[in-house]
Amino acid sequence: MSADKSVKLGIIGAMDVEVELLKESMEVTSTLERSVTTFYEGTLSGCEVVVAKCGIGKVNAAACAQSMIDLFGVTHLVNTGVAGSLAEELGIGDILVSEDVVHHDVDVTALGFEPCRLPDFPKVNFVADADMCTKLVQACEAVAPQATCVRGRVASGDQFVSGAEQRSSIRSALGAGCAEMEGAAIAQVATLNEVPFVILRAISDHADGSAVDDYPAFERSSAQIAARVMQEFARLMAE
Ligand code: ADE
Repeated sequence: MSADKSVKLGIIGAMDVEVELLKESMEVTSTLERSVTTFYEGTLSGCEVVVAKCGIGKVNAAACAQSMIDLFGVTHLVNTGVAGSLAEELGIGDILVSEDVVHHDVDVTALGFEPCRLPDFPKVNFVADADMCTKLVQACEAVAPQATCVRGRVASGDQFVSGAEQRSSIRSALGAGCAEMEGAAIAQVATLNEVPFVILRAISDHADGSAVDDYPAFERSSAQIAARVMQEFARLMAE
């Protein structure tokens, strides 16, 4: 990929636990503070990267993604972290690579728009970059062979999903494989700026009643699986 266009990969995680391993593994050449965010610029596995913790939720994620584009000129965006599983086949420690992503909490149905669709966009979903998806799956297979890795749909909302009813309504309405709180915002900003994106999520809980216990128990181990995959992904992006 870098033969015709040099890659500068923006890597966004919502929480310290999702980016700390990446920061430790990269060669940092500069840091920049903006608002409450510190951006770490340098190389990871030979790939030019900018890494930042955006904070939890879609507004934080969108602000961070736009800053990565405006301040650093990132050519590609990736969102890494943990998520609640909505799918039978995804257990704790397994991985979902986004084919697309939807805001599960958007509702302009009163004005005739379909559920989850923002009026300014033609469809409910934001489609991830196919080449980045392929490389992420390759990275999963290389460094997390113990994990089931599926391509699928991510559902994002400003809600921690922890109820069986909420879980099954997101699953049945959207066919999403996991729920998290940032991906669709990053995807929307990427789409508006014509920057290719992908989302990587390692499962920390089942987004049902057990999530309040499982999430704190598995947040760190699942975040580290995602971070290790991200290191390999950066290497593949630099090839
Ligand atoms: N991130 C990790 N688990 C989650 C859940 N159950 N809902 C939303 N975001 C999450």
